[in-house]
Amino acid sequence: MDVISVIRTKRDRGELTPAQIDWVIDAYTRGEVAHEQMSSLAMAIFLNGMNRTEIARWTAAMIASGERMDFSSLPRPTADKHSTGGVGDKITLPLAPLVAACGAAVPQLSGRGLGHTGGTLDKLEAIPGWRATLSNAEMLDVLRDVGSVICAAGDGLAPADKKLYALRDVTGTVESIPLIASSIMSKKIAEGTGSLVLDVKVGSGAFMKHLDDARELASTMVELGTDHGVRTVALLTDMATPLGRTAGNALEVRESVEVLAGGGPQDVVDLTLALAREMLDAAGLKDADPAKALADGSAMDHWRRMISAQGGDPDAALPVAREQHVVTAASSGTLTTLDAYAVGLAAWRLGAGRARKEDPVQAGAGIEMHAKPGDTVTAGQPLLTLHTDTPEKFPYALEALDGGVLVGPEDAAFAATPVVRERIA
Ligand code: URA
Repeated sequence: MDVISVIRTKRDRGELTPAQIDWVIDAYTRGEVAHEQMSSLAMAIFLNGMNRTEIARWTAAMIASGERMDFSSLPRPTADKHSTGGVGDKITLPLAPLVAACGAAVPQLSGRGLGHTGGTLDKLEAIPGWRATLSNAEMLDVLRDVGSVICAAGDGLAPADKKLYALRDVTGTVESIPLIASSIMSKKIAEGTGSLVLDVKVGSGAFMKHLDDARELASTMVELGTDHGVRTVALLTDMATPLGRTAGNALEVRESVEVLAGGGPQDVVDLTLALAREMLDAAGLKDADPAKALADGSAMDHWRRMISAQGGDPDAALPVAREQHVVTAASSGTLTTLDAYAVGLAAWRLGAGRARKEDPVQAGAGIEMHAKPGDTVTAGQPLLTLHTDTPEKFPYALEALDGGVLVGPEDAAFAATPVVRERIA
């Protein structure tokens, strides 16, 4: 087999054979296929796509590139959730301990933020002492003792995807349905969860800007999961505007703790409960009541134990950025637009996100949103507070927000989009 013929097949809109796929994934993982060759193949796939048979084989080959985890020794059914990435998407933080409080085991292997979307591990690292990296044995111990664990995927899990995702990130080949579906599902299937709920984001702040694309991505992933024996369901959820009222690491931890304490923004609570119900149903725990577990403090109790088990201090003060800048409403009326991409980009420029995988993030950086679309605002009222340790970044953040925050007349037509738009099973 030679890589040039594999690249030519896809470049010329052909179908890759199972043997070509198995060989190219294995050879790339071993370093026999060079980055520039894989990057050319990724671009050919980005431009010409792959059919469902090719995607299934590509996913299977990425799973086979590494180890598979096994949670069958746990006394509880396993349920996991994966979001395709958004702005202010802190849902994993309250969701994992909530679902554990309802009786499932939640092995939540999470990632770091890249570009304008935040990463769960970066958020949790704002908590003093908290550790993202656990051995497989430590992970199983926390799962057994607490019921939920949120940690980084080990190097042994789908190593082909680790290499390929880093390459796609720097070659403009991320936003491809076959590549996203196989990337996410290879990790989730290798992780060994019994059931999986996918939160497929749609809107300006998501990889999928249009509902049709989000549907296609969701149904591809549901089919892949189901074919591998994982009970898989997808919710298509809104990412035209950020989730909740904060975007940024420590700011989002604070808001998540508010949700666990029975408060927090309604959209965050609604989505957390909707995903929890799906996870519990898929895990066969249909009688569990996640709303009760939020209200009676048991979800908060699981959160505290989960954070402590990973070295964090749930009572420690969270980091606060050194400088703040308040953006006020220029006129009175109705806030009609608070664009998720603009807010995500601004938070990233303030230091909440990273441009390259090895860059550090600022724990305190980010944006607080004092009004959400549909709210009535008065001229001069604070709309946003920008937080950063590097105030020279304020002008760049303000530039990102330009055109993304719009106030219309008080009677401006405004149709609220529900957080959960569709369910695909
Ligand atoms: N998240 C992943 O894990 N992979 C992708 O390709 C996109 C988002």
